[in-house]
Amino acid sequence: MRGRREAGEDLTPEDLITVELGRARRSDPGYDEGAVDDLLDDVVAAMREGSLTPGQLARWRQRLEPVTRRLRPGYDRGQVDALLDRLHSQLAAPTPPAGAPTAPGPSGAGIGNDQEAVAQQYAREDRLETRRSVWRGTADGTDPVAVAVEALAAAAPRDLLEIGCGTGEFASRVAARLPGARLVATDQSPRMVELAAQRGLDARPVDASELPFGDDAFDAVAAMWMLYHVPDLDRTLAQVRRVLRPDGVLIAMTNGDGHLADLLTAAGGEPIRTQFSRENGATTLRRHFAHVEQIDFDTRAVFPDHGAAQAYLATFDPALAEQLPPFAGEAEFAGAATLFIAT
Ligand SMILES: C[S@@+](CC[C@H](N)C(=O)[O-])C[C@H]1O[C@@H](n2cnc3c(N)ncnc32)[C@H](O)[C@@H]1O
Repeated sequence: MRGRREAGEDLTPEDLITVELGRARRSDPGYDEGAVDDLLDDVVAAMREGSLTPGQLARWRQRLEPVTRRLRPGYDRGQVDALLDRLHSQLAAPTPPAGAPTAPGPSGAGIGNDQEAVAQQYAREDRLETRRSVWRGTADGTDPVAVAVEALAAAAPRDLLEIGCGTGEFASRVAARLPGARLVATDQSPRMVELAAQRGLDARPVDASELPFGDDAFDAVAAMWMLYHVPDLDRTLAQVRRVLRPDGVLIAMTNGDGHLADLLTAAGGEPIRTQFSRENGATTLRRHFAHVEQIDFDTRAVFPDHGAAQAYLATFDPALAEQLPPFAGEAEFAGAATLFIAT
């Protein structure tokens, strides 16, 4: 899997990085050449030695981001982001020989609970927004998120906590449905907290592994598509149980193993299995809660065209995106969402 210059010439990863950053240098007079050159020297040297691990690349990327942010609007940040995504996937999994089966894609909404990958995935909102944009409800028109909002409303909570709130969309729906309740929306990603706060929410940076709230502080906790990302699931659930009052409720949404399995296998990957899923979630929750109700939703992802399906896959595995066989027109793939209501 090689990048291509306009002329069609094959480029190595270090060529790609040099070409892209050279373009940035030419297009922006305020470009901080010294800082980027130092970083480039480090990364190219490590690549030459073959010693750059995916983790090092992720850290290098974090160092580059503040520099690129300082660049002026002429700088095409999307190009460098796409390049870094491609490099990351190349380094994470060496390119298999032609015809060889592809290694399974990363798990858990694509990234499982590897904390470096989780932090990088949600440092910006665009990947999450790309994924969210394709989801429709079930064939009979049921919206799983609306069911979750109603499950919370049924508990008539006064004090509500959301962990892993992302951009705050769910919390906003809950706030509109329960205007009298006190709602605290939390996420470990500073950017997500910023976006949630822009919606007028009480948004705070919080790692769900260590909730900075007293015992019995909330009547309800919501965890929407986030428990598959935490480093120690039992620890997080124990924290949730601690901050919930004895009659409090946890609302937790997740995916099943069959979620987009047809799309993943079409691209040469494998279905995603996570630590908190339709299949294993109830067993884990029963270690912390006396009653666990489970509602499954057979959802649908609708991709307007092949490019949209590739864009979705690229949010967590650019190699899979490149391998997705072409298809014409719109395509629909089955999803599997599950809501757990634990008390
Ligand atoms: C798949 S997104 C879901 C976002 C939102 N709940 C939604 O449904 O759109 C997962 C979110 O969980 C957050 N997250 C992951 N691990 C976390 C942790 N240990 N503590 C707090 N937030 C976490 C991520 O930053 C991200 O915003």
